[in-house]
Amino acid sequence: MKIYILLVIASFTFCFLEKVASISTSRPYDAIFNFGDSISDTGNFLDSGAIRFPVIGKFPYGRTYFKHATGRCSDGRLVIDFIAEAYGLPFLPPYLALTKDQNIHAGVNFAVAGATALDSKFFIKAGLEKFLWTNDSLSIQLDWFKKLKPSLCTTKQDCDSYFSRSLFLVGEIGGNDINYAAFAGNITQLQAIVPPVVEAITRAISELIAEGARELLVPGNFPIGCSAFYLTLFRSGNKEDYDESGCLKTFNGFAAYYNKQLNQALETVRQKNPQARILYADYYGAANRFYHAPGHHGFTNGALRACCGGGGPYNFNMSARCGHNGSKACANSSTYANWDGFHLTEAAYRYIAQGLVNGPFSYPPLKTSPNKIA
Ligand SMILES: *[C@@H]1O[C@H](CO)[C@@H](O)[C@H](O)[C@H]1NC(C)=O
Ligand SMILES: *[C@@H]1O[C@H](CO)[C@@H](O)[C@H](O)[C@H]1NC(C)=O
Ligand SMILES: *[C@@H]1O[C@H](CO)[C@@H](O)[C@H](O)[C@H]1NC(C)=O
Ligand SMILES: *[C@@H]1O[C@H](CO)[C@@H](O)[C@H](O)[C@H]1NC(C)=O
Ligand SMILES: *[C@@H]1O[C@H](CO)[C@@H](O)[C@H](O)[C@H]1NC(C)=O
Repeated sequence: MKIYILLVIASFTFCFLEKVASISTSRPYDAIFNFGDSISDTGNFLDSGAIRFPVIGKFPYGRTYFKHATGRCSDGRLVIDFIAEAYGLPFLPPYLALTKDQNIHAGVNFAVAGATALDSKFFIKAGLEKFLWTNDSLSIQLDWFKKLKPSLCTTKQDCDSYFSRSLFLVGEIGGNDINYAAFAGNITQLQAIVPPVVEAITRAISELIAEGARELLVPGNFPIGCSAFYLTLFRSGNKEDYDESGCLKTFNGFAAYYNKQLNQALETVRQKNPQARILYADYYGAANRFYHAPGHHGFTNGALRACCGGGGPYNFNMSARCGHNGSKACANSSTYANWDGFHLTEAAYRYIAQGLVNGPFSYPPLKTSPNKIA
């Protein structure tokens, strides 16, 4: 009898302690599901062959943190990697590389480098298919998620409970739609692409909410007028075309316009779905801090010149891009914000992730992370 009581007390204490432990270590998010393009792809494009951009499968891509190329379009970690770290979750496995018995309970990454918000048929119809890196647009990525769902959760109750504790990142996506339109046309044509792109993004968000998503983070576009690639392609002899950071006013103005349209559309989705929290991630504002004062943020080689490239004023040369013959990588990527002309360095992505997780560049804020990003 005595032993029995002791056992009951012991097991009660044990349960109690376990409960306390599980509360104190409980994470704000149990899983992350990510949709997007090269800004957040952790290996899908490489796994699908990377025919249009094979260099991401080799050095110097991945040199900083992983010490080998992983399919990430950077020297190291991406914003999504820093977010996963901050919430105590593993790096997201790329969907196309999943193995049969892989544990996917902490999330999956569906992003593909080169992906567009609009389906490839839009670009084929517009005569822009030569620019397309991939057909794996946002709607294809959403189909992958739906296909995978039965391996994540089974009953509606089970799925609702699991997804209510998951973070869904929808983007950055749409940046390539804009890039392709920018290569091809004028600013009028560029503005024409905004409504369909924004609609494709809000449609995906609504579908995810219908699938059970309750917390969604939707990034806008970067100040693309500060990108080494845009600065090279649209170089101007007219000083008036540049702002005080040396960025192209027209394209930054366009990105701000696009972000405003996206924000207005998100507000409509919020009103229709009060059960969900839809957060806007201000990549523009978070990145603009280091474009304004690069040295102040450790980018002693400036924020506009690419670390890895084939020369020219922004170290970007279309015929000698990073990883190709004629290109060279800088000694220390963390002194540059721009990695290869198109994409940013790990140091810049860390800085943007800080702005989202530690604040104030997520509206409304993300749940408090157990680990602030240093
Ligand atoms: C996209 O799909 C079309 C039609 O199926 C195909 O011809 C094309 O090669 C694909 N493009 C890429 C980049 O995979
Ligand atoms: C932009 O291109 C369209 C279609 O080619 C043309 O109709 C329009 O006049 C152009 N606008 C400007 C401002 O150049
Ligand atoms: C760009 O790269 C090509 C090929 O390496 C080279 O011939 C050309 O001079 C480079 N242009 C600039 C501006 O550096
Ligand atoms: C780079 O240059 C080397 C030596 O000149 C050559 O063998 C190789 O095929 C070139 N690679 C590419 C991708 O052009
Ligand atoms: C690279 O630059 C950063 C920032 O200036 C500095 O903290 C770091 O020590 C440098 N790393 C190397 C290997 O020089």
